[in-house]
Amino acid sequence: MKTLNYQKLLENPLFVSRYIEPNINWRHSYLNGKRGIKRLFSYPYASLMRKFFLRSYFQKRVLRGIVDIPYVEIVLTTKCTLRCEHCCNLMQYFTPKAQYVGTLENIIESLEQLCSKVSSINRLRLIGGEPFLFKDLPQLLDYIESQKKILTYDILSNGSIDIKEPILQRMKKSKKIRKVSISDYSHVPNIRLKQESIFKNLKKYRIPFSFLKGGTWHRLERIHKRGRSKEQIIANYLSCRASCVSLIGGGGGELAPKGAIFVCAAASSLSVLKGLEEFEGDYIDLMDETDRFLEFYAQDFYKSCDYCQDYSKPSEKILAAIQTREVLRIG
Ligand SMILES: C[S@@+](CC[C@H](N)C(=O)[O-])C[C@H]1O[C@@H](n2cnc3c(N)ncnc32)[C@H](O)[C@@H]1O
Ligand code: SF4
Ligand code: SF4
Repeated sequence: MKTLNYQKLLENPLFVSRYIEPNINWRHSYLNGKRGIKRLFSYPYASLMRKFFLRSYFQKRVLRGIVDIPYVEIVLTTKCTLRCEHCCNLMQYFTPKAQYVGTLENIIESLEQLCSKVSSINRLRLIGGEPFLFKDLPQLLDYIESQKKILTYDILSNGSIDIKEPILQRMKKSKKIRKVSISDYSHVPNIRLKQESIFKNLKKYRIPFSFLKGGTWHRLERIHKRGRSKEQIIANYLSCRASCVSLIGGGGGELAPKGAIFVCAAASSLSVLKGLEEFEGDYIDLMDETDRFLEFYAQDFYKSCDYCQDYSKPSEKILAAIQTREVLRIG
């Protein structure tokens, strides 16, 4: 990789909107997010830091080549208890055989590798598929709690699995958990949800949570390679602007053996479904030099964006989480 010009990065509006601004927002959320009585003091402190300090702090760190990850979603498994036809993480394209199922060892290895390259991760979101299907979640939460560079985490679930006691115990004691979010799919017929017992437990253990009501999604058009020109692919990324970089563990192969970070969860799923070779240049191999991590946030060309619908057109609103039995196929 050629030498990265850090000053140029700071002058790049895409980099500023994907890296500097989210770092300010998530660090503010970390400073502001103390629980209980401490919150009385943290609120004014966090506001002052945001107003007078955080921007120049992150800018100076970029100039020194230091990486702070604003937000990253880690895919624990692509397995899910539901099969939503329009899942934006593309779970509907996985056959039972092709699933990615992270192991505790894999996932800790990826996070350790990431932490060896970066100075902080402001927010780590545990996601799937369905993250509560990941059987070693208690041990993973212990690791996250002990890893100083991970400042906060949250979990996003579809509300179909009761949260087990060892997980509740850890979340109760956690200094890092921001919340458990439960998507509200209660309008969907013929699915079994555990919302009542989940919320009862979260309240009992005083774990912060949110219930993601809303009920509308955007329709996902069939995923296939559209053969757009480079300019059109860039334009599609710029229309979409997914903000959820997605980390998925490595398969031990030659490419990204310790895992990789993609522009979004659809892209990380595509790398499992079609193979990493297809997406060379799209991702950060966690073994890459630290400059690649910064450069990634100024990148606007991702081959995976050729597989998605045209995001410059308004997408149709549909009912959330409509189920399908079919395994969809990528064209
Ligand atoms: C892919 S899910 C993974 C976590 C969990 N399985 C769930 O459903 O909450 C992450 C989030 O994306 C949302 N989502 C999935 N597909 C979507 C779509 N087509 N449009 C809008 N939101 C979508 C879900 O509602 C959920 O809040
Ligand atoms: S959106 Fe539906 S299919 Fe996708 S991960 Fe969540 S529950 Fe599973
Ligand atoms: S692959 Fe590109 S166009 Fe598709 S959702 Fe991700 S960022 Fe958006």
